[in-house]
Amino acid sequence: MSILTGNHNGVLRIVFNRADKKNALTAAMYEALNEAFDRAAGDPAIKALLFAGEGGVFTSGNDLQDFLASPPRGIEAPVFQFLRNLAHCPKPMVAAVQGFAVGVGTTMLLHCDLVYAADDAKFALPFTSLGLCPEAASSFLLPQIAGYQRAAEKLLLGEPFGAEEAYEMGFVNKIIPPSEVLAHAMRQAEKLAALPASSVRVTKRLLRDTHRKAIAERMDEESTLFADMLGGPAAREALNAFMEKRRPNFSSID
Ligand code: COA
Repeated sequence: MSILTGNHNGVLRIVFNRADKKNALTAAMYEALNEAFDRAAGDPAIKALLFAGEGGVFTSGNDLQDFLASPPRGIEAPVFQFLRNLAHCPKPMVAAVQGFAVGVGTTMLLHCDLVYAADDAKFALPFTSLGLCPEAASSFLLPQIAGYQRAAEKLLLGEPFGAEEAYEMGFVNKIIPPSEVLAHAMRQAEKLAALPASSVRVTKRLLRDTHRKAIAERMDEESTLFADMLGGPAAREALNAFMEKRRPNFSSID
């Protein structure tokens, strides 16, 4: 099972479990994640969600091989459904990040309510170097959280950055030693689960409501562009280069 789920004290723990591929997310894994959201929505015993990864890695993002073999066609694809589930989840979401959190591994954190990162966490938004564009409404949320220039640096250059910088940017609550990050995140999620559920839900709704419409619109716009660009020459070159373990050559591509 590449996605592990289990309810512990009112917290639905959702764990990316594909360590040999750095927990890269396939369409089948997005479908399993979407089922986990359905389960959380339908079960009043689930009061909070917690995301984590196995093997000392959060996730290396979309599986690039899977993207090449079966690219998402339109905004109803499982990956884009997952992003909408993140944006609309009424229950609080907590993340425990260790190691790599690439692409959606970083953008999904912008939708989580509490984010704890190990000091070895490494974030990256390599969309331009993949011939793609931002997703998960990150082109809206990151400037809002971190300020325009910092967001532009991360989204235009796509270079990796560490936990300290993510904390300074404002999307990590606290940096924790790697051996303690999951337990700490779990304790925080259990605290949320022990509070009156309606009060937590209403508070989250009020916190998120101001930009709900803008986030949904930007997410759909990004998803459409992203799906189109995935079929374009730059993304084909970047994805093939990754699979062939070589540097991409964009010199003759617009
Ligand atoms: N999609 C598909 N396969 C991936 C993957 C991804 N996103 N991330 C890692 N893998 C695979 C590698 O191809 C490799 O497979 P192999 O053992 O069959 O050769 C295996 O997972 C281990 O990865 P490797 O690159 O050897 O690990 P590393 O520690 O040197 O580097 C990363 C880790 C995350 C920095 C690197 O794998 C990477 O850059 N991955 C791509 C990230 C990305 O661009 N994500 C998409 C964002 S939209």
